[in-house]
Amino acid sequence: MCGVVAVIGKQNAGKLVIEGLKKLEYRGYDSAGIASVSSETLNIVKSEGKLINLINKLSEVSNSSLKSVNAIAMGHTRWATHGNVSVENAHPLTSENRVAVVHNGIIENYAFIKNKLMSEGYSFKSQTDTEVLPHLFTKHIKLGNNLLQAGRLVLKDIKGAFAFVAMSLDFPGELFVSRNSSPLAIGLGDKSNFVGSDAHSIDHLTQKIIYLEDGDHALINFEDVQIFNMNNEKVDRKIINIKAEIGLITKGGYRHFMEKEIFEQPSVIPQTISTFVKDNYEIKIDLNKLGFKNKNTLLISAAGTSYYAAMVGKYWIEQLADLPVIIDLASEYRYRKPSVFGQSAMLVISQSGESLDTLMALRHGKELGLNTNAIVNVEGSTIDREVDYSLYTRVGAEIGVASTKSFMSQLVILFLIAVALGKKFNNITTAQTQKICLNILALPSAIAQMLNMENEIKLVAQNIKNAKSIIFLGRGLLYPLALEGALKLKEISYIHAEGFAAGEMKHGPIALIEDQVPVIMFLVSDGNEDKAISNLQEAYSRGAKIILIADKNCIQKASFAHHKIEIPNFETDFKSLLSPFLMAIPAQLLAYHVANERGTDVDQPRNLAKSVTVE
Ligand code: F6R
Repeated sequence: MCGVVAVIGKQNAGKLVIEGLKKLEYRGYDSAGIASVSSETLNIVKSEGKLINLINKLSEVSNSSLKSVNAIAMGHTRWATHGNVSVENAHPLTSENRVAVVHNGIIENYAFIKNKLMSEGYSFKSQTDTEVLPHLFTKHIKLGNNLLQAGRLVLKDIKGAFAFVAMSLDFPGELFVSRNSSPLAIGLGDKSNFVGSDAHSIDHLTQKIIYLEDGDHALINFEDVQIFNMNNEKVDRKIINIKAEIGLITKGGYRHFMEKEIFEQPSVIPQTISTFVKDNYEIKIDLNKLGFKNKNTLLISAAGTSYYAAMVGKYWIEQLADLPVIIDLASEYRYRKPSVFGQSAMLVISQSGESLDTLMALRHGKELGLNTNAIVNVEGSTIDREVDYSLYTRVGAEIGVASTKSFMSQLVILFLIAVALGKKFNNITTAQTQKICLNILALPSAIAQMLNMENEIKLVAQNIKNAKSIIFLGRGLLYPLALEGALKLKEISYIHAEGFAAGEMKHGPIALIEDQVPVIMFLVSDGNEDKAISNLQEAYSRGAKIILIADKNCIQKASFAHHKIEIPNFETDFKSLLSPFLMAIPAQLLAYHVANERGTDVDQPRNLAKSVTVE
């Protein structure tokens, strides 16, 4: 993961780098650092913890040249992969106080290179994979190479996924940058140039952006950006004009971004809906582009919460369109030899558009000859740029690490794909399609009604906040919601939580039930509710604390539950087909309030980052 920013040719470059890093903390926040060059000196300041610690440290550094007019600086926010969280392991990593490097990604052959460099007399101060980079630069520069030549030799030495920026005191007006699989954007200014892990991190400096392609490297100075491909041929990459986000996104009066993002769902989900539902009941999704000229099997691949959205999508597409759907975890798909028999299209789902697992799965699918599509929130992200067809969720930036509004918007698009496919292949009628579209248009108000249940959910949160382990159960369309509820809860409250298909309990997980273990079930009257209630009864009989979030009918049937939260009375479709949209809300609110009760860092939970750009 990690975020990198560099500025060359601007007064107060250090300050501008910090502004960029503020926008990159979603990529990692366990330590941060900054390097700048002034009067023949490499100035490095690093600190453990969030960026604010670095900012405070910088303000304490008296007479620091970092505070003054520096023309060249670069910075980093870290998400530790190799080496624990410490100042030594924070970036920039240096060599002989002459070369500094900030890096995102993993140098896979670093151990071999490190041993070799150590035998040549280089000493290492960190446990990172990154530190081989500055030493390799030093080694090649000492042999008489300029920064570009040295950088090219470094690229020959290393293997892995990376995006890095290198500066050297021997070439004080230049930066060498390169990317392979990890994202990197270059910004063009007036007698100044910029580098960032994403375009947003430098949009306070320029709107003219170039995305490097895999294997590219560039030499950047105040006036010029020269880009080369992996064969060292000079290439022109497209200049894209981006819109600047207005200032920093704020919490808008909420305590956390996650809370704000949960509560803004009724107002942002219409943006997703209106992109694809026209004239009230026309779904504008190009099924030919999506790879569905004919009936085929659809492959969906994603990670984490986006994968659980894919699971719901599978159930919907199979039910509404009678088309087979295979879902695959992105991190697994890439390393298998999957059969593409009967498949023509692959759909990846990614909020960030940068998850490396998902990107690699997408490339794998492409190599296997599949038409590639994405449901993605960030336009211009790597996945967006690499697929044949993107469907944008358009819910605005999601800052809280736990995905909430993105999940909801991914569900909207998956549902609409299912309906559009159902209509195309005559599995549902035009009248049914219109009714479903009307229901989708009513979705924001249904979500708003579900949000009104917050106080009841808060009480449950207070009741379970000290549990050691929590079990979520669901059946059918609500099984993926049980998985999502457990993921959300564990990632921000740090309580162990697992989601199970209710019917699977008796095949093993029921052994986990002991006195007072909270078992939370999402349930609606979908015709199979009696089976789910039997599963719940089995947990109740073994002493579990039963929390049932369900419609009136189910609540009456499962009167034994210890806590019953009745959802508002929606019409039939909402209670069955559309139930995942409804139950996403209690899943999110419960996780949020349990985390709040426990006082954890809701928006930036430990060990995580918003954009997972390592494998
Ligand atoms: C959980 C969460 C993660 C992401 C996963 C994929 O709340 O946010 O599980 O869903 O890392 O991220 P994207 O969708 O950006 O590919």
